[in-house]
Amino acid sequence: MLEVRGLKAAYGGTEILRGIDLDVAEGEIVTVLGSNGVGKTTLNMVLSGLAPARGGDVRFCGETITNRPPGAIVEAGLIQVPEGRRIFPNMQVRENLELGSYGRGKANRAANLDRVFETFPRLKEREKQLAGTLSGGEQQMLAIGRGLMAEPRLLILDEPSLGLSPLLVEEMFDLIRKLNAGGLAIMLVEQNVVQSLEIASRAYVIENGEVAMAGSAASVAENPELRKTYLGL
Ligand SMILES: Nc1ncnc2c1ncn2[C@@H]1O[C@H](COP(=O)(O)OP(=O)(O)O)[C@@H](O)[C@H]1O
Ligand SMILES: [Mg+2]
Repeated sequence: MLEVRGLKAAYGGTEILRGIDLDVAEGEIVTVLGSNGVGKTTLNMVLSGLAPARGGDVRFCGETITNRPPGAIVEAGLIQVPEGRRIFPNMQVRENLELGSYGRGKANRAANLDRVFETFPRLKEREKQLAGTLSGGEQQMLAIGRGLMAEPRLLILDEPSLGLSPLLVEEMFDLIRKLNAGGLAIMLVEQNVVQSLEIASRAYVIENGEVAMAGSAASVAENPELRKTYLGL
């Protein structure tokens, strides 16, 4: 459903993405791995229309969405849960969730809210609480819940495990697996190589603005280069 071809991006004169090729098919978890600063978030921003592509193109569900306005990309069903959660701390949990259906999913807002609360009972318990009072793990759940309110066809998660305790990281990966088991296609952007490769069907590793390794998650996990560079083995 997502086809990225030769995608380039830069900040000023600094080239960050030098021609990325990447696909996500219906129902897949695809993980995009890479060290800090390699351009993963930049890739997400370009896919979401929040940063310009300097070359190449992005197709989503058969339509070219390269450099289209962010609102149009959301409307098409490509929904991103940004790095660092970006929730609104001074608004209630429920209000944060409702904002997720601002651009898409408005008609089914009530039913989707029920479903999100079913998936995240802890958010239901804290429905009226200000989002800023939630723990880090709960805030990440809120950010994902907000994404689900927009009825994603493809959900991009940008480092959902960042800053969580090992126990919560485990819970987060279980949750991602569960969402995917319900049929949702997920592009999982992570630095957590081991756990991401465990739940993904396919993987891309980005280095120097290019795809350095790609293939089934199992084959990438076995790649000696990956094991040396990212796992110190
Ligand atoms: N708004 C920006 N302006 C200039 N440089 C940026 C900006 N955002 C990110 N960068 C730089 O682009 C590179 C890629 O960043 P980023 O996409 O955030 O990487 P990652 O998500 O893989 O950690 C980094 O060197 C970062 O410093
Ligand atoms: Mg990032």
